[in-house]
Amino acid sequence: MIAHVNGIDLSWDDVGAGVPVVFLHGFPLDRTFWKPQLSALIAQARCIAPDLRGFGDSTPAAPYSMDQYADDVVALLDHLGIDRAVIAGLSMGGYVAFALWRRHRERVRALILADTRATADSAEGLEKRRALLEVARREGSGAVATRQLPTLLGATTRERNPDVAEWLHLMMAMQPVEGVAGAIEAMMARPDSTPDLATITVPTLIVVGEEDTLTPPSDAAAMAGAIRGARLETLTLAGHLAPVERPAAFNHIVAEFVASLVYC
Ligand code: MLT
Repeated sequence: MIAHVNGIDLSWDDVGAGVPVVFLHGFPLDRTFWKPQLSALIAQARCIAPDLRGFGDSTPAAPYSMDQYADDVVALLDHLGIDRAVIAGLSMGGYVAFALWRRHRERVRALILADTRATADSAEGLEKRRALLEVARREGSGAVATRQLPTLLGATTRERNPDVAEWLHLMMAMQPVEGVAGAIEAMMARPDSTPDLATITVPTLIVVGEEDTLTPPSDAAAMAGAIRGARLETLTLAGHLAPVERPAAFNHIVAEFVASLVYC
């Protein structure tokens, strides 16, 4: 589906019925990343997966920032007539979830933070982003995909699941280079969300792959320690893209969490 919001065409999938859950993809992915979740969770939840601006079928258009991505999600909720939703963000999607919490917390029913972190980029991280931005501008999204993918997948997936790696490489290589470059700059400029963690008052589930080297289990534990009542789940045999590396285990945890919200 496509709607014109905030001056762009925003594309999304919307399946199932029940508690609305908005799935925010990571970088440099798109809404189809969440296919294993949408196909499994339709009986438990209304699953909404947008393409963030500049990814998938959503228009590449400045400005790019975590705040703008968050405002686009809220514009989509308005378009759909949804008051509050569970916000599930993977990695960069988690950075967007933090922006959503800062700017529109009344729209957040609960949070699912998957393979993400609250901190901003370190000096070394910023250096790596500058290099990646160069690659994106000089060689395009395919080169970004080739460079990024090995760091995203866990060692077990790299060794045992070439089909997932191939599927993800294709998805990453297809992204419009303007959106990819815009997202790199947006991530570089994102603020430290650590001070916001203590303000989170909604039920929060944190999931991390044990083999995640980009946002490792120590980052997840730090967030869980700072968010009151947060539940932390660590998935063995999964890396930074746990939802597609261990889909059945991830879906089970999310389904249980969403079901538990009736008691909160
Ligand atoms: C992602 O998966 O969204 C990215 O790895 C996030 C990042 O590079 O910080």
